[in-house]
Amino acid sequence: MGYKKAKIYFLSGTGNSYRVAAWLHEACGSKGITSEIIPINIANPKEEIEASPDNLIVLAYPTHGLLPPWSAVKFIFKMPFKKGAHIFCVPTRGCFRLGPLVVPGMAGIASMLPAIILPFKGYHPRGSVSFDMPANMISLHSRLSDKNIQRILTNAKRKADKFYQRLLSGKPVWFTLNNLWEYFWGILLLVFYPLFPIAYLLLGRFFMGKMMFANNNCIGCGVCAKSCPNGAIVMKGKENPLPYWRYNCEHCLRCMNYCQQKAVEAGHSWAIILYFIWVWGYPLTAYIFKFAADYFPQINYIKNWFTLVIVHAIYLYPAYIIAYFVFFNLIRIKPLNRIFTYTTITHFYRRYNEPETTLKDLLNKKQ
Ligand SMILES: Cc1cc2nc3c(=O)[nH]c(=O)nc-3n(C[C@H](O)[C@H](O)[C@H](O)COP(=O)(O)O)c2cc1C
Ligand code: SF4
Ligand code: SF4
Repeated sequence: MGYKKAKIYFLSGTGNSYRVAAWLHEACGSKGITSEIIPINIANPKEEIEASPDNLIVLAYPTHGLLPPWSAVKFIFKMPFKKGAHIFCVPTRGCFRLGPLVVPGMAGIASMLPAIILPFKGYHPRGSVSFDMPANMISLHSRLSDKNIQRILTNAKRKADKFYQRLLSGKPVWFTLNNLWEYFWGILLLVFYPLFPIAYLLLGRFFMGKMMFANNNCIGCGVCAKSCPNGAIVMKGKENPLPYWRYNCEHCLRCMNYCQQKAVEAGHSWAIILYFIWVWGYPLTAYIFKFAADYFPQINYIKNWFTLVIVHAIYLYPAYIIAYFVFFNLIRIKPLNRIFTYTTITHFYRRYNEPETTLKDLLNKKQ
């Protein structure tokens, strides 16, 4: 049994997940299957998805903290109920190569989540395959060398040719070595560190989003704001507009890696200040409990680690929003901006985007 049509939905910060989606699009073309690549932020799944075993639905997205990014999870929840529609997921993960040493990425829960959620909506999962693509977390490390990027991409393409043929001829892709590796780590994570993905979703990505700022090279063109898949950047200021990162940034790093002026930084010295704002929240939270308990002794009955975390979060979100607002106004002063820029390692890192993927590719549908 083969397919007649395929809808390939993708989310991609730096082009890796777009590339694996494009490879599938090409494979469909060579088999005479009509396919479409659709960025999830402009998709309308209720109108687009048809329930038929002739049609294949594919989701391609990066792994963030061993999970799909939050906007991909929201998209999965937004997908309509469709009995019998075939679904396949393609998470990409960050691979490092240092000479002969290859460090594969790990997608963990990202490779399983749609297959767990979507059967409740009537879908028929056909498996998953996660691809090692060049690691893109430029807020932590510099871009890999061109040679290593090419080697990783060549291996990924070889893998795509093999698994896409299998998938498009109608065979499921479940018990491969790749998937057993992913399921092993995913289940281990869920059993031993179930709080890790929750902490990443609630706090980690919020923290990383609030690290971002534009250095003095910014010309205020607004390309970063227009191309953010989450609408997480607003340009502030009439005379001298600068990008302002909002709470819904998912740290996909599109803005950082596609800015032509190399103006977007993930502030490391600023992150140290954010870290202290975070840590000071714990004694503050304990003090709030102690103070409140003097007046309402019943509070001692509900004082446990869970309520401490909740009160800490109630402090943390507004504290970060206020701190970021102050920071944003400070970096408008050029000498201060220069201090934060030169104490930020990303200023010295090379940027990365998948070599053949343009910003235009990431923004539009392709048939
Ligand atoms: C915030 C963030 C978190 C990441 N977490 C992981 C991870 O948990 N495991 C992994 O293998 N790669 C991780 N990566 C690497 C990316 O998933 C990988 O490079 C992916 O191919 C990027 O795809 P894109 O260009 O389509 O956004 C992370 C990258 C970022 C920016
Ligand atoms: S950060 Fe880059 S893309 Fe964004 S406004 Fe400034 S120059 Fe333009
Ligand atoms: S603001 Fe930048 S890093 Fe954040 S979601 Fe948008 S493009 Fe990605």
